Amino acid sequence: MTTSNGHPRPTNGSNGSNGANGYTNGANDRRRSFFEDFGVWKEAPVLTGTTKFEPLPDVKNIMITGGAGFIACWLVRHLTLTYPHAYNIVSFDKLDYCSSLNNTRMLNDKRNFTFYQGDITNPDEVVGCLERHNIDTIFHFAAQSHVDLSFGNSYGFTHTNVYGTHVLLESAKKVGIKRFIHISTDEVYGEVKDDDDDLLESSILAPTNPYAASKAAAEMLVHSYQKSFKLPVIIVRSNNVYGPHQYPEKIIPKFSCLLNRGQPVVLHGDGSPTRRYLFAGDAADAFDTILHKGQLGQVYNVGSYDEISNLSLCSKLLAEMGIPHSTAEEIQKWVKYTHDRPFNDHRYAVDGTKLRQLGWDQKTTFAEGLRITVEWYRRFGEQWWGDISKVLSPFPVVSGTDVISDKEPVTDMPQPKKRKVSEANGTNGAAFQVS
Ligand SMILES: NC(=O)c1ccc[n+]([C@@H]2O[C@H](COP(=O)([O-])OP(=O)(O)OC[C@H]3O[C@@H](n4cnc5c(N)ncnc54)[C@H](O)[C@@H]3O)[C@@H](O)[C@H]2O)c1
Repeated sequence: MTTSNGHPRPTNGSNGSNGANGYTNGANDRRRSFFEDFGVWKEAPVLTGTTKFEPLPDVKNIMITGGAGFIACWLVRHLTLTYPHAYNIVSFDKLDYCSSLNNTRMLNDKRNFTFYQGDITNPDEVVGCLERHNIDTIFHFAAQSHVDLSFGNSYGFTHTNVYGTHVLLESAKKVGIKRFIHISTDEVYGEVKDDDDDLLESSILAPTNPYAASKAAAEMLVHSYQKSFKLPVIIVRSNNVYGPHQYPEKIIPKFSCLLNRGQPVVLHGDGSPTRRYLFAGDAADAFDTILHKGQLGQVYNVGSYDEISNLSLCSKLLAEMGIPHSTAEEIQKWVKYTHDRPFNDHRYAVDGTKLRQLGWDQKTTFAEGLRITVEWYRRFGEQWWGDISKVLSPFPVVSGTDVISDKEPVTDMPQPKKRKVSEANGTNGAAFQVS
């Protein structure tokens, strides 16, 4: 099931450049819709990171899994456009509900870009891509990435995030990959108490939800392939990333889209959990830095300076939209509540010193990043992925590639937390560090 050179593979002699015509292999309506091109991407700015390094002599063909999803599409654009004569970029993606070919359509005419539709849980498709494109370097982003969904469909998370990573590792071993950069998350460390130190890469992993557990389990496999088979791996654990191109199931794009529609946002629980947010352009720079300066066998945290509670995020979004929110009544009009997640980590806090020592740093302030993001969703949010109505409900459900709205009760009052901030997270262990 492959498409290459950025176009759906034609079956009937058409060049396929405008979308659905001739898509092969069991195309159903939903799949076909991924290839429909209404041209919205032509109006959008081409967003990348800012870093540029001396190309590495032993890197030529880079496969980026999940390349039609949010974070990876930033890296796909960044590497394709920054290193046009040095690297060939292959975006490998199964085109799940949260992806969009619009994220990389602006690259379709670039000689060093290819889109390959495949599933990381299918060894034939993975090896087929690695061999066909003579891949030497893998960035592995593809995942089921939405925590809320992992409370309901946790098998899907284990299948994609754990088994899919296993397939990639085994395939990488088979073809003799030179670099395997595995994208993990700050959530693998679990919750960090307010007064605890930021966590170093050597901290113990203590995930608390099925998504984070599947990401931690995937790391164990990555670590084992490094130890057993000397697979050249690097693991990256990032804070929350935000910015244009993110499917509106996560808080910033979802709330931006709701407010754009003149609808209130709905917070889980009491809105007190905090998250640290990194703009996607800075994240792309971090991955570029790790590719060029990172050491094989190491783990790198990617840390942001901006920690914000979900409730104060609402105020910032209302301010950005120019919606009055200075009185309790005004806030109540726009900010509603529903029950909390079964478990909601109060905060995450990673120490990003090790990556900063390679020369990377956060360049985009939260204020600037939010301005860019809100503006982008105002212009493109309603068209980029097709109809997003169903995903804007508080706890939507995904079934296959369909998103189904929930019917959760919504109130004006903050809802009780499921539990108090947890007992201390162990922070002194060295377990699971890739050394
Ligand atoms: N979003 C964040 O804030 C954040 C923070 C830290 C780490 N991460 C990690 O970064 C990675 C990317 O996250 P994101 O938010 O960009 O995700 P996303 O949900 O926007 O994109 C995931 C992509 O993976 C693809 N995919 C899913 N299953 C696949 C499969 N079986 N085969 C091939 N492709 C498949 C999807 O089609 C989609 O394009 C994930 O590994 C996630 O755990 C995300």
